[in-house]
Amino acid sequence: MSQNTSHAVMAQRVEARDSLDFFPTPPWATRALVHDVLGVENCRGAVWEPACGAGHMSAVLAETFGRVHRSDVHDYGIGACVGSFVGEGADRAECPFRPDWIITNPPFNLAVDFAERAIAEAVVGAALLVRSTWIEGVARYERIFSRNPPAIVAPFVERVPMVKGRWDPNATTATAYAWIIWSACALAAGRTEMRWVPPGRRRALTRADDVARFAGAAA
Ligand SMILES: C[S@@+](CC[C@H](N)C(=O)[O-])C[C@H]1O[C@@H](n2cnc3c(N)ncnc32)[C@H](O)[C@@H]1O
Repeated sequence: MSQNTSHAVMAQRVEARDSLDFFPTPPWATRALVHDVLGVENCRGAVWEPACGAGHMSAVLAETFGRVHRSDVHDYGIGACVGSFVGEGADRAECPFRPDWIITNPPFNLAVDFAERAIAEAVVGAALLVRSTWIEGVARYERIFSRNPPAIVAPFVERVPMVKGRWDPNATTATAYAWIIWSACALAAGRTEMRWVPPGRRRALTRADDVARFAGAAA
């Protein structure tokens, strides 16, 4: 059987519209945000991870940031607060402090809503890990990029393999990802910088104990 490898298919992570879209972030991809995109010296404040899942991203953020609040709409059994980052329902998630940063890998279908709230509530900045193609699209341009141009778009040169429900260190993917950063002080300037996460970072930013810490954590 021939494989369909068209760009449209390769760029998709096929999910039902009502799915929670739980795809844990490889630890090295969060460290790339800290070390290659923001810089460690800028990652000392308080951060909210509002779609924390099983904690793959929040645990890595805690390696550098002084304070990390974790929440998710679903209870993954890690002691995080339970609440929705979007919508106005009784289950709306709030952060117990004013977060300097809001950083997450949002569910694809709600990423625009996540971006709007994160940009509005983060004191210093917001960072979302999204498919690289997320920066395209008229609706997203009108709701997000024309009003709030990101300070930095940071595509990964290497692939960032994400599989449903767990971190598989040996997974591969054809989907490209990028960090998108909004910064309160850069919003006024209206200019967006491209900053590539260079080759070799997957290997350099993977730690010896990552498999023991993260590979077993599943939904
Ligand atoms: C792509 S996973 C990312 C998990 C985690 N941030 C990470 O990087 O490992 C998306 C997460 O969004 C959560 N989620 C879905 N809808 C949500 C909502 N309305 N509010 C908060 N979290 C939500 C899912 O439960 C899932 O854990």
